[in-house]
Amino acid sequence: MEILKIKNLSKTFSSEGKSLKVLDNISFTVEKGASVALVGPSGSGKTTLLGLCAGLDRTSTGEVYLNNELINHLSEDDRAAIRNQHVGFIFQNFQLLPTLTAIENVMVPLELRGEKNSKATAEALLEKVGLNNRADHYPSQLSGGEQQRIAIARAFSNNPSILFADEPTGNLDSETSEKIVKLLFDLNKEAGTTLIMVTHDLELAAKTQRIIRIKGGNLISDEKTA
Ligand SMILES: Nc1ncnc2c1ncn2[C@@H]1O[C@H](COP(=O)(O)OP(=O)(O)OP(=O)(O)O)[C@@H](O)[C@H]1O
Ligand SMILES: [Mg+2]
Repeated sequence: MEILKIKNLSKTFSSEGKSLKVLDNISFTVEKGASVALVGPSGSGKTTLLGLCAGLDRTSTGEVYLNNELINHLSEDDRAAIRNQHVGFIFQNFQLLPTLTAIENVMVPLELRGEKNSKATAEALLEKVGLNNRADHYPSQLSGGEQQRIAIARAFSNNPSILFADEPTGNLDSETSEKIVKLLFDLNKEAGTTLIMVTHDLELAAKTQRIIRIKGGNLISDEKTA
């Protein structure tokens, strides 16, 4: 069963009368439970593509189906509701809320869903990423790698059916990185969470089932890994 389908997707940004085509006619589908790596040079459009797949932004042309629902034409509120229900997103720049503590950041998606035990669930997630002792710290009091792990705990919190991760190990030392990679793949295997990950680490990409390569806004290859 397909969880994500992208059809003839293009994205053009316009500012000050100039327009820049960042993604050009991209199409692919992802099966439920799959793991996919999205690779390509800096500036090739990976983050933009991930955001469009997750319904964070709207396409210029083309279609995005998430769980068989066409989402690219929906309003921001409707897309936000779908994201909260189905999608986990680990941002390249974390996007933690600066006025909330670590645990409060993890609790946000849970509270949006009206979960009763949001504090206990968030505590368990912080423990998973090895940060239960930093629950009451604010993002500005945490290192880059610690913020990344809070962002990962937050992305896990609503048991997403699809998890988008934008360079999830970009700021981590090799030992912490290994732990986080294990968490991501465990979630993929045990909960069947579909994993779509941007990475510059080709060793990590090779651990997924499939590698999609983007260059200059074009999809240049889409291959199963060995
Ligand atoms: N909101 C925006 N307005 C204008 N241009 C944008 C916007 N967002 C991204 N771009 C441009 O789109 C291109 C692709 O950016 P994107 O962040 O998707 O690249 P990337 O492949 O994720 O790169 P990196 O590996 O460095 O993270 C870049 O040239 C960038 O400047
Ligand atoms: Mg990027």
